[in-house]
Amino acid sequence: ALVRLTDLLAPAQAGHHGVGAFNVISIEHAEALVAGAEQAAAPVVLQISENAVKYHGALAPIGAATLAIARASSVDVVVHLDHATKVELVFEAVRVGFSSVMYDGSILDYDRNVSTTAEVVRHCHAAGVDVEAELGEVGGKDGVHAPGARTRPDEALAFVQETGIDALAVAVGSSHAMTERSAKLDLDLIAELRAAVPVPLVLHGSSGVPDEEIVRAVRAGMTKINIATHLNKVFTDTVRARLDADPKLVDTRKYLGPARDAVADEVARLLRLLTA
Ligand code: G3H
Ligand code: ZN
Repeated sequence: ALVRLTDLLAPAQAGHHGVGAFNVISIEHAEALVAGAEQAAAPVVLQISENAVKYHGALAPIGAATLAIARASSVDVVVHLDHATKVELVFEAVRVGFSSVMYDGSILDYDRNVSTTAEVVRHCHAAGVDVEAELGEVGGKDGVHAPGARTRPDEALAFVQETGIDALAVAVGSSHAMTERSAKLDLDLIAELRAAVPVPLVLHGSSGVPDEEIVRAVRAGMTKINIATHLNKVFTDTVRARLDADPKLVDTRKYLGPARDAVADEVARLLRLLTA
């Protein structure tokens, strides 16, 4: 069933476990993520980024397909817009029926990030849609590994109070799009942020974070764990192996199917890790 982000994050925050949030590029991703969540009997967040919308050229077709897959699922599923920098795209996601959005004003100066995020919150809350926002830029979105950025706890509290957001993405040592799982997180800062801020905290760029470090981060207070690149690696490695194994292969289902199955199994494993 389709649920709101807060429906998943509030009990997870109270119970000190993690919620997996994984990115959808193709319909096979959406199918794989829901299949993995059903295997683990765990809820899941399916997120479509502004970059994925650019890739498709439009939000509605991939959004509608993802929403249909979410509604048909036996587990609770959030359909979330990820890293939207354009307010107009946020409003479109609300119209299409997304149950959650991330407005990412992290590259803006503090005051502008607050005013734009607050405007997004007013609009989304009126429509029954939850909002995640980011303070202290998590690097790597432009391909540059940037684990140095940090979110200040005092500023984080002010940001949450001034915007009314439902979840806060923080910079605590991870970086987007890492293909090696070698990131070290600032666990003391996570604990300080957890103590300072009332809303659930979001870890971006979790592909670069080893399993054990993800578990430590959840224990220290992170709730929503965003993973994209790692699952793309699982998907693409499987496609490559299938094509290498059979150079005459033509039917796309013969390599997309195994890739979808491999992603589902890895999602089930990750969700068990987060909820253990
Ligand atoms: O918003 C999405 C995530 O932060 C994913 O980052 O591709 O490094 O796992 P990742
Ligand atoms: Zn991210």
